[in-house]
Amino acid sequence: MTITTCIFDAYGTLFDVSSAARAAAAEPGREALAQVWPVLSENWRRKQLEYTWLRAVMGAHCDFWQVTQDGLDWAMEAAGLDDAGLRERLLALYRELAAYPEVPAMLAALKARGLATAILSNGSPSMLDDAVRSAGIGGLLDDLLSVESAGVYKPHARVYALVTERFSCLPDEVLFVSSNGWDAAGAAAFGFTTAWVNRAGLPMDRLPAKPQYILPDLTPIPDLVSP
Ligand code: LAC
Repeated sequence: MTITTCIFDAYGTLFDVSSAARAAAAEPGREALAQVWPVLSENWRRKQLEYTWLRAVMGAHCDFWQVTQDGLDWAMEAAGLDDAGLRERLLALYRELAAYPEVPAMLAALKARGLATAILSNGSPSMLDDAVRSAGIGGLLDDLLSVESAGVYKPHARVYALVTERFSCLPDEVLFVSSNGWDAAGAAAFGFTTAWVNRAGLPMDRLPAKPQYILPDLTPIPDLVSP
Protein backbone atom coordinates (compact mmCIF):
# COMPACT_ATOMS: atom_id res chain seq x y z
CA MET A 1 0.00 0.00 0.00
CA THR A 2 1.30 3.47 -0.90
CA ILE A 3 1.89 5.77 2.04
CA THR A 4 -0.10 9.01 1.62
CA THR A 5 0.00 10.39 5.13
CA CYS A 6 2.83 10.74 7.63
CA ILE A 7 1.80 11.18 11.27
CA PHE A 8 4.14 12.06 14.13
CA ASP A 9 3.97 11.65 17.85
CA ALA A 10 4.98 14.96 19.46
CA TYR A 11 6.65 14.60 22.85
CA GLY A 12 9.88 12.64 22.66
CA THR A 13 9.56 12.23 18.87
CA LEU A 14 9.57 15.73 17.33
CA PHE A 15 10.28 17.55 20.61
CA ASP A 16 13.02 16.72 23.10
CA VAL A 17 11.25 16.43 26.46
CA SER A 18 14.52 16.56 28.40
CA SER A 19 15.32 20.01 26.96
CA ALA A 20 13.18 21.80 29.59
CA ALA A 21 15.07 20.53 32.65
CA ARG A 22 18.42 20.71 30.81
CA ALA A 23 17.86 24.37 29.88
CA ALA A 24 16.62 25.35 33.35
CA ALA A 25 19.62 23.62 34.99
CA ALA A 26 21.99 25.75 32.90
CA GLU A 27 20.46 29.02 34.16
CA PRO A 28 22.19 31.07 36.89
CA GLY A 29 21.11 30.20 40.45
CA ARG A 30 19.91 26.71 39.58
CA GLU A 31 22.64 24.77 41.42
CA ALA A 32 20.16 22.45 43.19
CA LEU A 33 18.53 21.49 39.87
CA ALA A 34 21.90 21.11 38.14
CA GLN A 35 22.70 18.25 40.58
CA VAL A 36 19.58 16.25 39.79
CA TRP A 37 18.10 17.35 36.47
CA PRO A 38 18.55 14.08 34.52
CA VAL A 39 16.74 12.06 37.21
CA LEU A 40 14.11 14.78 37.64
CA SER A 41 13.48 14.85 33.91
CA GLU A 42 13.21 11.06 33.70
CA ASN A 43 10.80 10.89 36.65
CA TRP A 44 8.75 13.78 35.28
CA ARG A 45 8.26 12.00 31.97
CA ARG A 46 7.62 8.60 33.54
CA LYS A 47 4.97 9.91 35.95
CA GLN A 48 3.34 12.06 33.24
CA LEU A 49 2.86 8.96 31.07
CA GLU A 50 1.85 6.67 33.95
CA TYR A 51 -0.86 9.14 34.89
CA THR A 52 -2.25 9.08 31.33
CA TRP A 53 -2.53 5.29 31.36
CA LEU A 54 -3.89 5.13 34.92
CA ARG A 55 -6.46 7.84 34.28
CA ALA A 56 -7.56 6.03 31.12
CA VAL A 57 -8.14 2.81 33.09
CA MET A 58 -9.82 4.72 35.92
CA GLY A 59 -12.13 6.56 33.50
CA ALA A 60 -10.82 9.82 35.00
CA HIS A 61 -9.56 11.74 31.99
CA CYS A 62 -8.05 15.19 32.37
CA ASP A 63 -5.92 17.00 29.82
CA PHE A 64 -2.19 16.53 29.24
CA TRP A 65 -1.31 19.89 30.75
CA GLN A 66 -2.75 18.69 34.06
CA VAL A 67 -0.83 15.37 34.04
CA THR A 68 2.31 17.26 32.98
CA GLN A 69 1.98 19.42 36.10
CA ASP A 70 1.14 16.43 38.30
CA GLY A 71 4.15 14.49 37.00
CA LEU A 72 6.43 17.46 37.65
CA ASP A 73 5.10 17.88 41.19
CA TRP A 74 5.87 14.21 41.91
CA ALA A 75 9.35 14.47 40.38
CA MET A 76 10.20 17.70 42.24
CA GLU A 77 9.11 16.23 45.57
CA ALA A 78 11.10 13.04 44.89
CA ALA A 79 14.16 15.22 44.18
CA GLY A 80 13.64 17.28 47.36
CA LEU A 81 13.00 20.45 45.35
CA ASP A 82 10.41 22.76 46.91
CA ASP A 83 10.63 25.86 44.71
CA ALA A 84 7.52 27.45 43.18
CA GLY A 85 9.61 29.67 40.89
CA LEU A 86 11.48 26.67 39.49
CA ARG A 87 8.20 24.82 38.95
CA GLU A 88 6.83 27.75 36.98
CA ARG A 89 10.03 28.02 34.92
CA LEU A 90 10.08 24.30 34.06
CA LEU A 91 6.45 24.42 32.97
CA ALA A 92 7.10 27.50 30.82
CA LEU A 93 10.03 25.71 29.16
CA TYR A 94 7.81 22.67 28.53
CA ARG A 95 5.61 24.91 26.35
CA GLU A 96 8.60 25.65 24.09
CA LEU A 97 10.59 22.42 23.96
CA ALA A 98 13.41 22.17 21.43
CA ALA A 99 12.62 20.22 18.28
CA TYR A 100 15.25 17.64 17.31
CA PRO A 101 17.62 19.24 14.78
CA GLU A 102 16.63 17.07 11.80
CA VAL A 103 12.88 17.85 12.14
CA PRO A 104 12.46 20.87 9.78
CA ALA A 105 14.37 19.34 6.83
CA MET A 106 12.65 15.96 7.30
CA LEU A 107 9.16 17.56 7.26
CA ALA A 108 10.10 19.74 4.27
CA ALA A 109 11.21 16.62 2.35
CA LEU A 110 7.86 14.93 3.05
CA LYS A 111 5.93 17.99 1.88
CA ALA A 112 8.11 18.12 -1.27
CA ARG A 113 7.01 14.53 -1.98
CA GLY A 114 3.36 15.53 -1.65
CA LEU A 115 2.56 13.72 1.58
CA ALA A 116 0.02 14.86 4.14
CA THR A 117 1.72 15.48 7.48
CA ALA A 118 0.32 15.92 10.99
CA ILE A 119 0.94 15.43 14.69
CA LEU A 120 -1.15 12.98 16.72
CA SER A 121 -0.41 13.62 20.37
CA ASN A 122 -1.57 13.28 23.93
CA GLY A 123 -0.85 17.01 24.14
CA SER A 124 -3.75 19.42 24.56
CA PRO A 125 -4.47 21.65 21.56
CA SER A 126 -2.93 24.73 23.21
CA MET A 127 0.24 22.81 24.18
CA LEU A 128 0.63 21.61 20.59
CA ASP A 129 0.05 25.10 19.21
CA ASP A 130 2.78 26.50 21.49
CA ALA A 131 5.26 23.71 20.68
CA VAL A 132 4.81 23.98 16.93
CA ARG A 133 4.95 27.79 17.00
CA SER A 134 8.14 27.93 19.07
CA ALA A 135 9.82 25.31 16.83
CA GLY A 136 8.70 27.22 13.70
CA ILE A 137 7.34 24.08 11.98
CA GLY A 138 3.63 24.97 11.70
CA GLY A 139 3.88 25.57 7.95
CA LEU A 140 5.15 22.01 7.42
CA LEU A 141 2.21 20.31 9.15
CA ASP A 142 -1.34 19.98 7.79
CA ASP A 143 -2.93 19.45 11.19
CA LEU A 144 -2.32 19.03 14.91
CA LEU A 145 -4.53 16.20 16.19
CA SER A 146 -4.99 15.99 19.95
CA VAL A 147 -6.37 13.11 22.03
CA GLU A 148 -8.72 15.71 23.51
CA SER A 149 -10.95 15.05 20.47
CA ALA A 150 -11.21 11.38 21.58
CA GLY A 151 -11.43 12.00 25.35
CA VAL A 152 -8.95 9.23 26.14
CA TYR A 153 -5.17 8.80 25.92
CA LYS A 154 -2.95 6.75 23.65
CA PRO A 155 -2.76 3.85 23.01
CA HIS A 156 -6.59 3.63 22.83
CA ALA A 157 -7.67 2.75 19.27
CA ARG A 158 -10.11 5.68 19.33
CA VAL A 159 -7.10 8.02 19.31
CA TYR A 160 -5.45 6.46 16.24
CA ALA A 161 -8.82 6.52 14.46
CA LEU A 162 -8.68 10.35 14.58
CA VAL A 163 -6.09 10.09 11.79
CA THR A 164 -8.08 7.89 9.40
CA GLU A 165 -11.17 10.07 10.02
CA ARG A 166 -9.32 13.35 9.43
CA PHE A 167 -7.46 12.24 6.30
CA SER A 168 -10.14 9.83 4.95
CA CYS A 169 -7.54 7.11 4.50
CA LEU A 170 -6.98 3.47 5.37
CA PRO A 171 -4.68 2.64 8.31
CA ASP A 172 -1.95 1.09 6.15
CA GLU A 173 -1.73 4.25 4.01
CA VAL A 174 -0.40 5.97 7.13
CA LEU A 175 3.23 5.96 8.24
CA PHE A 176 3.05 6.59 11.98
CA VAL A 177 6.28 7.69 13.64
CA SER A 178 6.94 7.58 17.38
CA SER A 179 9.94 7.34 19.65
CA ASN A 180 7.71 5.86 22.35
CA GLY A 181 7.84 2.08 21.95
CA TRP A 182 4.39 1.58 23.50
CA ASP A 183 2.90 4.21 21.15
CA ALA A 184 4.50 2.52 18.13
CA ALA A 185 3.00 -0.78 19.35
CA GLY A 186 -0.45 0.80 19.73
CA ALA A 187 -0.25 2.33 16.26
CA ALA A 188 0.92 -0.95 14.71
CA ALA A 189 -1.96 -2.78 16.43
CA PHE A 190 -4.36 -0.25 14.87
CA GLY A 191 -2.96 -1.16 11.45
CA PHE A 192 -0.70 1.79 10.68
CA THR A 193 2.62 1.23 8.97
CA THR A 194 4.82 2.18 11.90
CA ALA A 195 8.34 3.46 12.51
CA TRP A 196 9.84 3.40 16.00
CA VAL A 197 12.58 6.01 16.49
CA ASN A 198 14.82 4.36 19.04
CA ARG A 199 17.33 7.11 19.85
CA ALA A 200 18.30 5.55 23.17
CA GLY A 201 18.89 2.01 21.87
CA LEU A 202 16.20 0.55 24.15
CA PRO A 203 14.88 -3.02 23.94
CA MET A 204 11.65 -3.53 21.99
CA ASP A 205 8.51 -3.36 24.14
CA ARG A 206 6.88 -6.74 24.73
CA LEU A 207 3.44 -5.81 23.44
CA PRO A 208 1.06 -7.51 20.97
CA ALA A 209 2.13 -5.56 17.86
CA LYS A 210 5.53 -4.50 16.54
CA PRO A 211 6.69 -1.57 14.36
CA GLN A 212 7.82 -2.37 10.81
CA TYR A 213 10.79 0.00 11.00
CA ILE A 214 13.29 0.82 13.73
CA LEU A 215 15.28 4.01 13.13
CA PRO A 216 18.08 5.78 15.02
CA ASP A 217 16.55 9.23 14.39
CA LEU A 218 14.07 10.94 12.03
CA THR A 219 16.45 11.48 9.09
CA PRO A 220 15.49 8.29 7.13
CA ILE A 221 11.72 8.96 7.23
CA PRO A 222 11.39 10.56 3.74
CA ASP A 223 13.16 7.55 2.21
CA LEU A 224 10.58 5.19 3.70
CA VAL A 225 7.80 6.72 1.63
CA SER A 226 7.55 6.61 -2.13
CA PRO A 227 8.78 9.70 -4.01
C1 LAC B 1 2.52 12.30 22.78
C2 LAC B 1 3.21 11.59 23.92
C3 LAC B 1 3.03 10.14 23.88
O1 LAC B 1 3.01 13.32 22.25
O2 LAC B 1 4.55 11.83 23.93
O3 LAC B 1 1.45 11.80 22.43
